Amino acid sequence: MAVTPLICPSILASDFARLGEEVRALEAAGADWIHVDVMDGHFVPNITLGPDIVKAIRPHTTLPFDVHLMVAPVDPWLEAFREAGADVLTVHPESGPHLHRTLGRIRQLGAKAGVVFNPATPLSILEEVVDLVDLVLIMSVNPGFGGQKFIDSSLKKIAGARAILDRAGSSAHLQVDGGVTSANAAACVAAGADALVAGSFVFKGDCGARKRRWTSPRVRFPACLARRCARRCDRATRSPDPACGPPSPAGWRRGSCGSSFTACPVTASRWGRRWAQAR
Ligand code: DX5
Ligand code: ZN
Repeated sequence: MAVTPLICPSILASDFARLGEEVRALEAAGADWIHVDVMDGHFVPNITLGPDIVKAIRPHTTLPFDVHLMVAPVDPWLEAFREAGADVLTVHPESGPHLHRTLGRIRQLGAKAGVVFNPATPLSILEEVVDLVDLVLIMSVNPGFGGQKFIDSSLKKIAGARAILDRAGSSAHLQVDGGVTSANAAACVAAGADALVAGSFVFKGDCGARKRRWTSPRVRFPACLARRCARRCDRATRSPDPACGPPSPAGWRRGSCGSSFTACPVTASRWGRRWAQAR
């Protein structure tokens, strides 16, 4: 069965001076989740943002906040990010002494619990915590920076994680993060992923050129998530179009600007509503 993956743009590649506007543009363009990369300059060699920033951008969108914590120790920060508005909290096994306890605590806080695997982190850990996770994230680069090249062996790891989830009867999402572009997105989904994080590809570059590369019927990034194009598509995406509901099987339609695909707002908001209800 064809899978339409969740599109989770990473705001790491956005304009930090205009974060609220960036997040609104992502929602208007049809993103499913907002991926927030939290880096502490210790667990990874880069520093990004803290709970106050998450709190500040929370009113700008109803989309779920998918917060990827690259912080050690991570436990002292869970509550603050949840209170700031995180819907998913994803942690690295290496970021604390007791992963089982950390994942339990995240669910206790009412958030979805995610576990993330670096390129060298063994998937055997997933076997031990599979019942405690709502999301598994496979890093297809080493964490710390946007704009890196996709590591091809990640595809094997995605397939391995899919097999573990299926064997356990888990409905957890399987997400990929790092160097995701139109050149590898279809392969990620074919390997078993159902959620794609993308920073540079969404925010940087020319969506006009990208449009020509969006050929897979299995994976359709809303190419107009690119900042400039999101603005151009405003008229097409901002107000729900009665003509597009119920959504087509893939849930996508062509933006009236004619320059790219845009998400049907009805479909794009379905996850936001579902998660909002669960909170
Ligand atoms: C890397 C981050 C990623 C990154 C993705 O540590 O976890 O989410 O922002 O950015 P691109 O898509 O540019 O690789
Ligand atoms: Zn990330």
